[in-house]
Formats: sequence, structure tokens, C-alpha cells
Amino acid sequence: MDNRPIGVFDSGLGGLSILKTLTRAFPYEDFIYVADLKNCPYGVKTKAQIAEYVSDISDYLVKRDVKAIVIACNTATANSQHLHLSIPVIGMIQATAKEAMQYRNRGSSLVLATDATVQSHLYRKALNAYQIEAIEVACPTFVMLVEEGKMETSESYRIVSEHLKPYQELAIDSVILGCTHFGFLKQEIHNCLPDAVLVGGGVEVSRQLRHELEHQDAFASDLRHGVVSLVTTGDRDEFKEKIQLMNMPYDEIRAI
Ligand code: DGL
Repeated sequence: MDNRPIGVFDSGLGGLSILKTLTRAFPYEDFIYVADLKNCPYGVKTKAQIAEYVSDISDYLVKRDVKAIVIACNTATANSQHLHLSIPVIGMIQATAKEAMQYRNRGSSLVLATDATVQSHLYRKALNAYQIEAIEVACPTFVMLVEEGKMETSESYRIVSEHLKPYQELAIDSVILGCTHFGFLKQEIHNCLPDAVLVGGGVEVSRQLRHELEHQDAFASDLRHGVVSLVTTGDRDEFKEKIQLMNMPYDEIRAI
């Protein structure tokens, strides 16, 4: 048994789409979620900058004595190869590609991601390993729609549909939400590509986390109720306001 918290991080609010799945799957566990709002968005930064953010947040979480880290950010996952921690670290890209495998049919996977993730071509590699053809599309404008709380607005429907129009006639089996922010734009994406399955990776990330905790006999006691702490590197009040729009239950919120 291990009652230490699990660390989860993203550049901003996108990782909350993964945190929601994790808190439902692990109700007894404590979670510390870091939104690196000071440096958001990651997708337009250099590899060296993103790698530095990943190191800084991981150091912070290790100091908070977490027992595992979930990198709930594809862009950070693509730039995390330098991390060598003694605790399990679970990233998004392999997990999401694996989740897409069950929806493989005759078409391709449309990977929607940030510029940095698309440039890494790690999704193409991971999907090709499952014999899935990948079409990688950078969607730089989508992240700020979520950060600015503009989900399910006429603006978000317009921007998403303009961006995805070229892919509407193609045979697409699955759309990879290759940026965790896009988990909050599912309605808009589904509206453009109604026949494709949307794959966000949260289910497979949960499965991998369960596997790690089982393996290390590190589940928290089932006599407790997990505490969710939200932390930002940005402004606390701004963060709190944004969180309210995302319908995310939490126990404490603070800035570092
Ligand atoms: N949510 C992040 C991802 O999954 C990136 C958003 C950004 O900061 O550009 O890639």
C-alpha cells in the first residue's frame, strides 16, 4: 500500500481531460495536477525549451513525493526522452496509438496535434508499428480555444470545421486527439468527422497506471477518499476562473 500522490501535468488545462478519467478510475488516490500556464502553449516552443519545462515540472513533482507521473500532454511526452526517474512515468503517445489499434479498419488515423508533436512524427512511428497509416495535422489554433474557455461556441465550430474540411472526404477510421486540449473539442471534431472514432488515450493511460501500481503494490488504501490538488505556475485567480469553466472537481488550488 502506498498513499503517496500521483503527479499529472500539462502546459495548461488540456490534461484535465486525462485527470478526469484518472480520478474516476482511481477514487482512493491523491492527485497533484500541474498546469504550466506560465509557459503555455508548449506546441510552439523549441524542443530544448519544452524539455526544460518537462524537467522543471517533474522535479517539482518528485519533491512533492509522488509515486508516479502521468505526462498528460503529448507535446511534453514527445520531449521527455531525457527523463530518468526512479518512479514510473506514463506518457500519452504510445498509449494513444495503442488505444487507436482497436479501431483499425480500412482507413487511416487522422492525428490532430500541436506543431511540436507533428514535427516529432512520433505518432506516425507509433501508428505505423500497428500497421495504421497516419495523417498528421498541426492544429495550432485549437489550444487557445480551450485555454480561453471557448468550447462549443460558434467560433470553435467555425475554426475546427475550417481546419478539418480537407479531411472530410478521406477514409478515416479514427481521429487521434493528439493534444490533450482537444479532449475538450470533441463535439466540434465529431461534427466534422461524424463517422470516425475519437481516441484520446485516457483509457490506455489508466490501464498502464493500474498495471504499474499493481506491479509495485502501490495502490492507496481503499478506506480513504482521494484528494485532488490543482497547481499552476501562472496566476492562481486566473487558473481558478478557468477551472470553473471545465467542470473539474478539486479539493485545493494554488500557484507555485
Ligand atoms: N495539451 C498539450 C498536448 O497534449 C499541448 C498544448 C500546448 O501547450 O501547446 O500536446
